[in-house]
Amino acid sequence: MLIALGVTGGIGAYKAVEVARGLQKRGHDVVAVMTQNATRFVGPLTFEAITRRPVITDQFAPGANADIEHIALASTIDLLLIAPATANIIGKLANGIADDFLSTLYTATRAPLLLAPSMNTQMFAHEAVRQNLDTLAARGARFVEPGEGYLACGWIGKGRLAEPDEIVAAAGAILRPAGPLRGQRISIPCATSATGRAAAWATRSRPKPRRAAPRSRWSPDRRPWLRRPCAM
Ligand SMILES: Cc1cc2nc3c(=O)[nH]c(=O)nc-3n(C[C@H](O)[C@H](O)[C@H](O)COP(=O)(O)O)c2cc1C
Repeated sequence: MLIALGVTGGIGAYKAVEVARGLQKRGHDVVAVMTQNATRFVGPLTFEAITRRPVITDQFAPGANADIEHIALASTIDLLLIAPATANIIGKLANGIADDFLSTLYTATRAPLLLAPSMNTQMFAHEAVRQNLDTLAARGARFVEPGEGYLACGWIGKGRLAEPDEIVAAAGAILRPAGPLRGQRISIPCATSATGRAAAWATRSRPKPRRAAPRSRWSPDRRPWLRRPCAM
């Protein structure tokens, strides 16, 4: 699965490196998207080395937009995970503000959103932040609750970024939801035995031959961001 890991400018940004590692250890592909303020806390190089992919830090980077990068990425990711999520990004996402790569990606993608908020206790308790979180929850966003305890700012209370393992587990739960077939052994007839061949033949659907459509400049294979429905 491809996960866009949004990293914003909070004191917990260093923990996002462990989140990227944890996701990779579970076999996911990770592309890091850092806000400009996040790069003041952790260097993009760290994420580049860990994810083995270029890190997106600038919506208008020369050469990045031959394929309108945020739209191309929006249609290929399976999850948008933001850890840490600042009060600022939470406010922008709740209100549809798209003024950098990460907030624009959110409006362009239909992938599930998982947020790990992290901020000072007073900020987390502020009515504006609570309302923004409620708005996002009503829209289907999922959250990894911040932890309680001693915060970097010297306060004691709720607001510390959840532990990386917890965030990785929450991402895994979204990507592999528990369903009625979870853990069941399913046998699928294959064509290597006589019985399997007969079963496979019986269940095979035979589509009618179709003439290939002429390739136009609007065909999805020429514009990869059109392969999945998107809002723009
Ligand atoms: C040292 C320091 C630590 C900060 N930690 C946080 C934080 O943990 N959570 C938060 O919401 N904002 C925090 N801020 C404020 C954000 O950096 C600021 O709101 C910024 O505009 C966020 O930008 P971004 O959301 O685009 O990354 C911190 C600022 C500084 C200077």
